[in-house]
Amino acid sequence: MSNESLANLLKEERRFAPPADLAANANVTAEAYEQAKADRLGFWAEQARRLTWAKEPSETLNWSNPPFAKWFEDGKLNVAYNCVDRHVEDGHGDRVAIHFEGEPGDGRAITYAELKDEVSKAANALLELGVQAGDRVAVYLPMIPETAIAMLACARIGAAHSVVFGGFSADALATRIKDADARVVITSDGGYRRGKPSALKPAVDDAVDRVDNVEHVLVVRRTGQEVAWTEGRDVWWHEIVERQSAEHTPEAFDAEHPLFILYTSGTTGKPKGILHTSGGYLTQTSYTHHAVFDLKPETDVYWCTADVGWVTGHSYIVYGPLANGATQVMYEGTPDTPHQGRFWEIVQKYGVTILYTAPTAIRTFMKWGDDIPAKFDLSSLRILGSVGEPINPEAWIWYRKHIGADRTPIVDTWWQTETGAMMISPLPGVTETKPGSAQTPLPGISATVVDDEANEVSNGGGGYLVLTEPWPSMLRTIWGDDQRFIDTYWSRFEGKYFAGDGAKKDDDGDIWLLGRVDDVMLVSGHNISTTEVESALVSHPSVAEAAVVGAADETTGQAIVAFVILRGTAAETEDLVTELRNHVGTTLGPIAKPKRILPVAELPKTRSGKIMRRLLRDVAENRQLGDVTTLTDSTVMDLIQAKLPAAA
Ligand code: WT7
Repeated sequence: MSNESLANLLKEERRFAPPADLAANANVTAEAYEQAKADRLGFWAEQARRLTWAKEPSETLNWSNPPFAKWFEDGKLNVAYNCVDRHVEDGHGDRVAIHFEGEPGDGRAITYAELKDEVSKAANALLELGVQAGDRVAVYLPMIPETAIAMLACARIGAAHSVVFGGFSADALATRIKDADARVVITSDGGYRRGKPSALKPAVDDAVDRVDNVEHVLVVRRTGQEVAWTEGRDVWWHEIVERQSAEHTPEAFDAEHPLFILYTSGTTGKPKGILHTSGGYLTQTSYTHHAVFDLKPETDVYWCTADVGWVTGHSYIVYGPLANGATQVMYEGTPDTPHQGRFWEIVQKYGVTILYTAPTAIRTFMKWGDDIPAKFDLSSLRILGSVGEPINPEAWIWYRKHIGADRTPIVDTWWQTETGAMMISPLPGVTETKPGSAQTPLPGISATVVDDEANEVSNGGGGYLVLTEPWPSMLRTIWGDDQRFIDTYWSRFEGKYFAGDGAKKDDDGDIWLLGRVDDVMLVSGHNISTTEVESALVSHPSVAEAAVVGAADETTGQAIVAFVILRGTAAETEDLVTELRNHVGTTLGPIAKPKRILPVAELPKTRSGKIMRRLLRDVAENRQLGDVTTLTDSTVMDLIQAKLPAAA
């Protein structure tokens, strides 16, 4: 990446210092960086003491067989005990753990004492169904409290869960059930999406028919819709769980006991089962949730809007917040049901103080208009988080201004399914934030940017993001495929973890993420990141969202093709397209001017909100579309293709 374009990306030069009162009372201060730098392993050993161990670990890291790490190897603990029971024992049984908000408007508050009973009963039910420590259980549920309860029940008895996002097809579910060799699947009749019950059980029936390892399907009743029933195999949750004893003694497992497998689809090949284990994972999710969100469990109301089916939901709905005794909101549905202010209504209703969401959601809110959040009282908010993809400065500023009243710090947290927990992020009481940059590796984390030859780049330079030291919540392997684990992450640069993200360091040494390396375009010999061009487009007042791809081009190698969603009032004219092209030219330089700009109504996104540039590339190169099964809405592509001739 050239220095000029870096300078341009930094055009938003405002800096935001932490609010004085937050800094004065922050959970974590600048000293943590110093402490971790002086003694990284000592720092993590200290963070591990946030947890309650049945047997304290005597060793922090065993890295004798890289890249296979063992953290806190001789320690023993029960993860569910740490997330639930100990808070009750500490006298916080009456504290609300989960404020559940169903999409139809139903709700339910679950205290830590109630959660302890529910998790214990579910654990006893799983034992009755024959699940044992060391087994795998697949979870295919909507965003309801039973999902967290099911995950914790698995953890409690030492069975690894494999949560499969409820939006995935029977096919995707079958592949994952088979790969993990799950003996039980936990699902529901359905869940509410966009004002309607949406069925889940049929996909499970279909998936289970295609595999031979599943003994039981445990079914939560959520919507009351009709379900097909296989006698002997299917069991209602309310029948088996409700009659169990609320007493269950949690057994202590090794720190390296498997906690869960979570599949990432990746761009090619079969999904990778990312394996996370217990002690290190819980240490880092707990610490980062405490440090980055400055969580004060007595007073904060925390809300992470992710689905539990993604790693964000695992680490920052279930394990991190519950390990910390947080009170949180869990919302079942979509942000525009029954109206586009639903999120802000929820913030107002529960007095949410910490909100964690994704750039794709923020850009959608921008598109819907400033007047929508303005109708609600958002004054309880004190910290805003972002995760999932680079947040363009425009969206960052909008988030701070329209949601955070120009007052709340924004923490842009970089991490991955594989890293298990946050790795690069500002600390809200310490960091002077820069819109668009995740900035600094967290205390105890070693990350940098290297060039093609693995040399660390100097300030102002760009290349690949790497992690240079093992970290407690790192993936331990790819389930059943150690070699693929080595090949995918540890072979590109000797001894370093290759994250697959492009990145650069600015003049202060702060890190800017530039998207997946496969999303870098090569135009007339220049590397241009899709993120940069998208940011430039979105910084124009007429553009709400943009997705940029490189399409094969005879003269320039690749040509930049941009798909843009215009803001409500902007008219789709030739003049506007010219103006946008020039706007990118003046922002990033003439080389980055898109060859074509196509206004579209929607962009193709995966269910986790990532833009599927691969499909847009197919369109831009006039190819038949590749696999569209992971799209939220496959009709989006028909609309986009229909636009094409006009713009060619
Ligand atoms: C990829 C990991 C981390 C939980 C959700 C996604 C991108 C994530 C950021 C950020 C820039 C980000 C990266 C990363 N990403 N957070 N703050 N800034 N990029 O988990 O599905 O495993 O995806 O998401 O490209 O590699 P995931």
